[in-house]
Amino acid sequence: MDMEQEVITLLSSREIEKMRRAGKLAAQLLQHLDPFVKPGVSTLDLNDEAERWTQEHGAKSAPLGYNGFPKSICTSVNEVVCHGIPNAKQILKDGDIINIDVTLIVDGYHGDTSKMYFVGEPSPLAKRLVEVTDKCRQLGMDEVKPGARIGDIGAAIQEYAESQGFSVVQDFVGHGISHIFHTAPQIPHYGKRGTGKKLRPGMVFTIEPMINEGTWEVEVMSDKWTALTKDRKLSAQCEHTIAVTSTGYEILTQA
Ligand code: MF3
Ligand code: CO
Ligand code: CO
Repeated sequence: MDMEQEVITLLSSREIEKMRRAGKLAAQLLQHLDPFVKPGVSTLDLNDEAERWTQEHGAKSAPLGYNGFPKSICTSVNEVVCHGIPNAKQILKDGDIINIDVTLIVDGYHGDTSKMYFVGEPSPLAKRLVEVTDKCRQLGMDEVKPGARIGDIGAAIQEYAESQGFSVVQDFVGHGISHIFHTAPQIPHYGKRGTGKKLRPGMVFTIEPMINEGTWEVEVMSDKWTALTKDRKLSAQCEHTIAVTSTGYEILTQA
């Protein structure tokens, strides 16, 4: 993603309230999609239901037309790391794991969140990868408070993921977000403690670790969007948009 802006903007409480409203609606959309994710459904069906629900709630899908992205949500199945494009020919089957990543614009502000869904009954390994990924996001968020550094977030995520025998994707990172979809700072999901910029109240950014079963290396398909693991092993991701508060952090993408 392009990070045109270098300076990290601090959001006012009025702006954070708008981020809360966008974030809440985005989280509610992920919940709404729960019963739709099942064997036999196409990823385009999921896209179309998400778009319909978003319009019904008076919001806009940020991905649609963003840098030419053709659909409203990202659907990343099994070995797809991120930015999977919904497609009528891609039918979910028993045992798949899928990430759905939604970003809604409400009153000009963005709520960006994603989670993993199980299609039928995935393998024990797939389930463990998803559990570890959820915990990586939590451990990353637990580092967030004024005075901590951006590198602390990635270090916590990388230490835990690798301790579980998995790897951390480096080619895609979390990002500042506000009335702009992707802005400074970048939030790597790997790194060293005590490095990077200091966190301050009013900073708003995403934490969205992508954790791989095998190699951390990814390839982007000829569609220029779909990123998949180089070894075609599984990948999982989950994302929250959070604000740094005076004492820690607030999750803005909560239903
Ligand atoms: N929602 C993704 C993120 O977490 C970005 C998707 S951009 C798109 O940053 F164009 F692929 F939709
Ligand atoms: Co994001
Ligand atoms: Co996202």
